[in-house]
Amino acid sequence: MPILNWLGRDDALKTATNTPYRLLEEVPELGYGDKTKENMIIQGDNLEALKALLPFYAGQVKCIYIDPPYNTGSAFEHYDDNLEHSTWLSLMYSRLELLKEFLREDGSIWISIDADESHYLKVLCDEIFGRQCFVDEVIWQRAFAPVNLKKTLSRSHDAILVYCKNPVNFVLNTLPRSDKQCENYKNPDDDSRGPWTSADCTVGPVVEEKLYEIITPSGRSVFPPEGRCWLFTKDRFNEMVADGRIWFGKDGNNAPRVKKFISEVKGGVVATTLWTRDECGDNQEAKREIKALFPNEKNPFDTPKPERLIQRVITLATDEGDLVLDSFLGSGTTAAVAHKMGRRYIGIEMGNHAITYCVPRLKAVIDGEQGGISKSVNWQGGGGFRFYKLGEQVFDADGCINENISFENLSAHIWFTETKTPFNKPAEKTTYLGTFDNISYALLYNGILKDKRVDGGNVLTNKTLNVILDDMKHQPYEKLVIYGESSRISPARLKTLHIEFKQTPYDIKAR
Ligand SMILES: C[S@@+](CC[C@H](N)C(=O)[O-])C[C@H]1O[C@@H](n2cnc3c(N)ncnc32)[C@H](O)[C@@H]1O
Repeated sequence: MPILNWLGRDDALKTATNTPYRLLEEVPELGYGDKTKENMIIQGDNLEALKALLPFYAGQVKCIYIDPPYNTGSAFEHYDDNLEHSTWLSLMYSRLELLKEFLREDGSIWISIDADESHYLKVLCDEIFGRQCFVDEVIWQRAFAPVNLKKTLSRSHDAILVYCKNPVNFVLNTLPRSDKQCENYKNPDDDSRGPWTSADCTVGPVVEEKLYEIITPSGRSVFPPEGRCWLFTKDRFNEMVADGRIWFGKDGNNAPRVKKFISEVKGGVVATTLWTRDECGDNQEAKREIKALFPNEKNPFDTPKPERLIQRVITLATDEGDLVLDSFLGSGTTAAVAHKMGRRYIGIEMGNHAITYCVPRLKAVIDGEQGGISKSVNWQGGGGFRFYKLGEQVFDADGCINENISFENLSAHIWFTETKTPFNKPAEKTTYLGTFDNISYALLYNGILKDKRVDGGNVLTNKTLNVILDDMKHQPYEKLVIYGESSRISPARLKTLHIEFKQTPYDIKAR
C-alpha cells in the first residue's frame, strides 16, 4: 500500500511508544455535579493524556470525534494553528495511533478537517486504521455567505473523515425522520393505519412470474414499463389490494403504487454524506452558541463547532450510555453535547481554556443550560464530571517504578501490558488482579499486605503465596503470573505450581 513520507516520519512512528506513562491527578475543585458519573475532562497534551488513559480505557470507546488544528496558517487567540506541514503530520500520526487503541470493535472515529490537510490526513488514516476501515467522507457546509475578500474560491465546507475499527458488520444508526420528511406522508383515503406515502410498484430486471396484466378499479389495463416487472407475484398483489395497501390514485385510474405507512417504517433515515447548515448548523451558529455561554467576552473562542454538528455525529455513532472521546476538546462542545445526550465522555484539552471555557460550560450544562441542542433533547440538567491534570510519571528514565505509584495504578499498568485490555478495578483491593486467556495475575506491591518492609509483603514466600491463593478463593488456575520484589520460593517449586515469577520493576514493561 502506498504510504506517505515526510521529514521526521521515522521519529513519529516511535513517538506514541516512547511517550511515558503518566498518572492522572484529580483536581476536585474543578469538577462539578454528580462525581459518580464517569465523565472526565483532562487538561494536558493529548499524547500524554491518551497514554495515561490507555490502561483503563483501551478498546472501550464507541465514538471518537476530533477537531484538530487544521494547520491553516492562522494564529488563533487560544491556540496555534500554524504548524509546519511535517510537524503537523507527525503530531497527527502519533495521536491517531493511540486513538485507534481506544476504539471498541464496533466503534468509529470522526475527524474534522479542511482541504489544506484533508488529503494528506486521508492517506495517513488509511495507513493507521486500514483502507478497508474507511467508512466515508462527510461534507459539512460550514459557511453560507462567500468571503468576498477571496480572489479565487471562498471555502464553505469542511470534510469529516470517518473510519471504523472493524469493517465486518459495521453499522451506523439512522437519523430520526424530520418534520419535513414526515410532511410527505398523507392520508387521502382515511386509512386507519394513519399517514402514508406511495412508492413505485415495479422493479427490474424482469422476473417472468411477476409480469402480468393488472386491471385498475376504473377498468384500465396496465403493464409494467419495458424491462421491468411488478414488485409482487399475482397472488401477493391481490392480497395487497384486499388489505388496502395498493393505491390506484384518487380516481382509481392510475398504475398501481405501494402504500408505505409512517407507522410501519422501521428505524429512521440513512444519513447521506452531505450535511447542510440547515441540518447541522454552521460556524456562525457555533459562534452564537459560545457567545451566549460567555456573554461578557467579546470573542470567546475562535473555532467552536455547532452543537448540532456534534449531535449528528453522536446520534449516528453511539447509543445512550456509550463512551465518547474528544482529544482536541477546544471550548468543550463534544463534552457538552455528549452530556446532554446521555453519553459518557472523556475530553482532553491542553490549553488553559480547559479551565476557562470547558469547565464553566459543563457546569452550565449540569445546571440545565438551554442553548445549543438542549431544547431538541429536552435537556433538564443533572449529571457531573471530574477534572484531571497530568500527574507524575509511572516509571523514571531508568524504567524504575516511581515509589509514589499506588497499588491500583501499578495493577492497571501490569494488567494492560500483559493483556492489552483495560483493568477493571476490583471492588476491594486484593493481590489477585484477574484471569485473562487462562492466565491468572497477582501483584505484591507497596504494602498491599499492610507490610512495606522489603522482606515483608512485597516478597513471594509461602506465606504471601497463601494470601494470593486466598484472594483467588482457591479457584484452580492453569498458570499464575506473580509480580513481586523477589521470590523466596525455589524455581523448581514454582515450576511444579505452574507459577511464573516476574520481578518488579525490571519485568514490568515501562513503555
Ligand atoms: C479546532 S479546536 C477544537 C474546537 C472544538 N471542536 C470546539 O467545538 O470548541 C482545536 C483544539 O485542540 C487543542 N489542541 C491542539 N493540540 C493539542 C494537543 N497536543 N493536546 C491537546 N489539545 C490540543 C487546541 O488548544 C484547540 O483548543
